[in-house]
Amino acid sequence: MDVEALKAEAGKAACDYVTEGMNVGLGTGSTVKYTILELGRRVAEEGLSIVGVPTSIATRDLALEVGIPLAELDDLDGLDVVIDGTDEFDPSFQLIKGGGAALLREKVVAQSSKRMVVVADDRKQVSTLGAFPLPIEVTPFSYNTTRRAIAKVLGCEVVMRQSGEALLTTDNGNYIADAHTGATIANPVKVEASLLALAGVVQVGLFSNMCDVVVMASGDGITVLTKQD
Ligand code: A5P
Repeated sequence: MDVEALKAEAGKAACDYVTEGMNVGLGTGSTVKYTILELGRRVAEEGLSIVGVPTSIATRDLALEVGIPLAELDDLDGLDVVIDGTDEFDPSFQLIKGGGAALLREKVVAQSSKRMVVVADDRKQVSTLGAFPLPIEVTPFSYNTTRRAIAKVLGCEVVMRQSGEALLTTDNGNYIADAHTGATIANPVKVEASLLALAGVVQVGLFSNMCDVVVMASGDGITVLTKQD
């Protein structure tokens, strides 16, 4: 089975967590895209009534295209569920996110949701986080100073993310620094705190103690992993 088919399978399966009347956080990326397409189909064909809160401009545009009614997070009293992709997840359901540069809004939305459902193919399952370079959103002001400070804290190479010739700018007008830690992040809570202590760091792509369920697609079909409290 090719990767795109696995993404589609995981993305669609996660729609089971959405029921009538819910406020739903809509994640960003190439896997959750299939969730959004399927939710749009259910809204159009089955009359499903939901309100979506997108985590990026790209997701907002897609959701509008498929007819999902949207609202501002500020105007709602929290969300019932957020469905989002991930770049890695470990056995404790800790995540690295931000490969699509949407980590800040994704984290705000995840923290406002009663439940976080992650959609992924089995390539994202790791024993220790960090083989995927850790995305860190930084302020444009003296970003190289922040990049060097991150490198010092983590003891690894940190590279500013490019978009063509220019630095990539996030939906929030910031930059992304990718930290090449290798698969060494055994304590994401500690790593996150040490990075957030740097003034130029806006947010870190470590999502600790947020994910409740992973809907994972592999060649053997769908596996639903549920965090035990
Ligand atoms: C967006 O910033 C990311 O957090 C994505 O959710 C993550 O990179 C997963 O994306 P894919 O499903 O495209 O791999």
